[in-house]
Amino acid sequence: MADRLKVLVYGGTGSQSSPVVWELLERGHQPYVFTRNAEKAKAMQDAGAEIVVGDMGALNSVRGASMGMDAVSLMIPAFIPNPMDYPKYAQNALQAAKEAGIKLLVYNTSGPVITDEFQNPMYGLRNHIIQSIQSSGIPYIILQPGVYLENLFGPWTRPAIIERSVLPYPVEENTRLGWIASEDVGKLTVAALEHPELAGSVIPISGIENVTGPELAAAFSRGLGRTITYDALPLDEFAAAMDAMFGEGVGAGAAQGYQYQRDNGHRMTMWVDMEPILQKLPVAMTSIEDWARKHVLAFSRTPEGHTA
Ligand SMILES: NC(=O)c1ccc[n+]([C@@H]2O[C@H](COP(=O)([O-])OP(=O)(O)OC[C@H]3O[C@@H](n4cnc5c(N)ncnc54)[C@H](OP(=O)(O)O)[C@@H]3O)[C@@H](O)[C@H]2O)c1
Repeated sequence: MADRLKVLVYGGTGSQSSPVVWELLERGHQPYVFTRNAEKAKAMQDAGAEIVVGDMGALNSVRGASMGMDAVSLMIPAFIPNPMDYPKYAQNALQAAKEAGIKLLVYNTSGPVITDEFQNPMYGLRNHIIQSIQSSGIPYIILQPGVYLENLFGPWTRPAIIERSVLPYPVEENTRLGWIASEDVGKLTVAALEHPELAGSVIPISGIENVTGPELAAAFSRGLGRTITYDALPLDEFAAAMDAMFGEGVGAGAAQGYQYQRDNGHRMTMWVDMEPILQKLPVAMTSIEDWARKHVLAFSRTPEGHTA
């Protein structure tokens, strides 16, 4: 067992980083969940997490939260009012981490990274943040996942699986993706926090399988125990569903990202051979089939016949 670490977790009440909090608790560490709304972290508090109320956009609150921490799990929330503020949120976290003498920072880029930030702000800003981390002097490990399985809970996919046994996603049929469970990213993050000797590493990560759309649907068929087929969703339909969930305008940005991915897939790492990585960061990874089986209720009608 590694030393008990005090870890400040950004985004810990959300989809991408809540698994970091649960895994820290599981491994006997002390997570500090940074949130604007303590209510959202109640279950984590009940399970032993500390709660720190603050806003990533406000340097002072981030500063206070960083004091006394051993390590930081950094993730910039995917949907903030102005995505061009990603570097500002990161800068605040970095400045506070540096002042607090943090021994290790693990940054989850949330997705692929490209080196030309002007080509596409979403992917390029991540590289900007990586450069800031690398020049900050803070010991770091950077994890670069490709695409989350949790995206399939979105209203562009889940209702269609429940109602029509169709899995729509805005990616062309033959494109291969290394879908990863956010729980596995959480475990890899905690494993990285326990391996400070890997400081200075930039590690692309993915799920263990590299599948086309129809192969993804086949894994779902096995996991859910019924036949699911794949449907490459038109980008305008995807954008409309995103707007409905996250607010007007979000869909256009996300659809632009997927269009960019369609045109520039060769520039992005969406799957990696995890075997050598798992030797350094020992984590039991989830197959797509097992992930679907685990969430069978979320992809089923309620007993009343409604979509859950
Ligand atoms: N590559 C990919 O496939 C990819 C990448 C990114 C996201 N996604 C998908 O996008 C969805 C959303 O994921 P998510 O985890 O980014 O978002 P989320 O589940 O909406 O959670 C956002 C988190 O960020 C925190 N947050 C937001 N603004 C903040 C601020 N100003 N100060 C402090 N904390 C702030 C929230 O905390 P409080 O609200 O508690 O303050 C919350 O913990 C998921 O379905 C995920 O799979 C996919």
